Order: sequence, then structure tokens, then C-alpha cells
Amino acid sequence: MKLTLAITGASGTNLAKKFIEYLPKDIELHLITTNHAKIVEHLEEKNVTIHNNKNIGASIASGSFGVDAMAVIPCSMNTLAKISCGIADNLVTRSASVVLKEQKKLLLAPREMPFSAIPLENMLKLSRLNVIISPPVMGYYSQSETIEEMERFIIGKWYDSLGIKNDLYKRWS
Ligand SMILES: Cc1cc2nc3c(=O)[nH]c(=O)nc-3n(C[C@H](O)[C@H](O)[C@H](O)COP(=O)(O)O)c2cc1C
Repeated sequence: MKLTLAITGASGTNLAKKFIEYLPKDIELHLITTNHAKIVEHLEEKNVTIHNNKNIGASIASGSFGVDAMAVIPCSMNTLAKISCGIADNLVTRSASVVLKEQKKLLLAPREMPFSAIPLENMLKLSRLNVIISPPVMGYYSQSETIEEMERFIIGKWYDSLGIKNDLYKRWS
């Protein structure tokens, strides 16, 4: 699977780091961060290509490259607004617009609290285009006892949505 992961300038970069940490090695990861997000560390063992957000001509910005899915974790309200309006002014927003036009999976993890009507409208518009709107929301039924377990639950739910097999959390039975 070719997966693009974009990390934008919202709170929760740590979740993106762990998303990469737990990722199975057979996933071909393409990583972009906006200027506001710190570059992820400890990538040695991963099958990852790091792209410059200014490089609009990168492979993942073309439909013919064949990205299977894209996730934006965390997704700032700024990037959410741009994606919902079809703005493609950097590699993150361009890649998202390509994934949308190719009708591939796009998962956004918007992080803000509370949400105003503007991002809520942006999310609704994208949801109607089959974009997966999946903010990092804790699930208390998962009986997590530590922050690490709660994070595994959230990341496991993201993997489920993207079609990445995992046993990161205890499933309801
Ligand atoms: C410490 C800090 C925390 C921030 N947290 C959030 C956040 O949780 N959600 C959000 O939408 N924006 C947050 N912002 C604002 C974004 O970083 C800002 O809107 C930026 O322009 C986003 O750019 P990007 O979408 O290109 O990453 C935060 C900014 C700072 C300095």
C-alpha cells in the first residue's frame, strides 16, 4: 500500500509520530509536514520517503503515481479549510486534492476544541465527498488505563479506516 501521511500545525504531533511507529513495514509511506509541524524522528526502520511541502512536483502530487490512501494527522483548521475549498498551494493540500479527484481514501484528523461553525461546515462538506473525518476522540469503552493505551486505541481506529490490519486496541466483543 502507498500511503501519504501529512502532519500539519495542530496540537497532537505526537499521535502522528506513534502512527508511524506502529505502521507495518510493508506500507510504503510518503511523509510531508507543513512548516509548522516538526519532522518526525526515529524513521530508520521505516519504508519512508520524506517530501518537501514546497515541492508541488513530487511523485505523490500526481494521480498517476497511484497513492492508495492519505491521512492528515493532526489536521489544522487551516489545512482543513484549504482542502475543503480545493486550494492546492503546497504539497499537503495538492496531494489531498489529488487523492480526492482519484476517489481514494482520505482521512483527516482535525484537532481543535471547540470547533466553530466554519470547520464544522468544512468537515460536513468533505464528509459528503466520502472523506473520513476522524478527530482524535477517546473511546472510554476501550477500557484504556494509560495515555499510551488511549493513543493506541485512536491510532488503531485510524488504521481500521485506512484498511491497515492491527491489534492496537481491545475490540468490543
Ligand atoms: C502551539 C500551537 C498550537 C496550535 N494548535 C492548533 C490546533 O490544535 N489546531 C489548529 O487548527 N491550529 C492550531 N494552531 C494554529 C496553526 O498552527 C496555524 O493555523 C497554522 O497556520 C497551520 O498551518 P498548516 O495548516 O500549514 O500546518 C496552533 C499553533 C500553535 C503555535
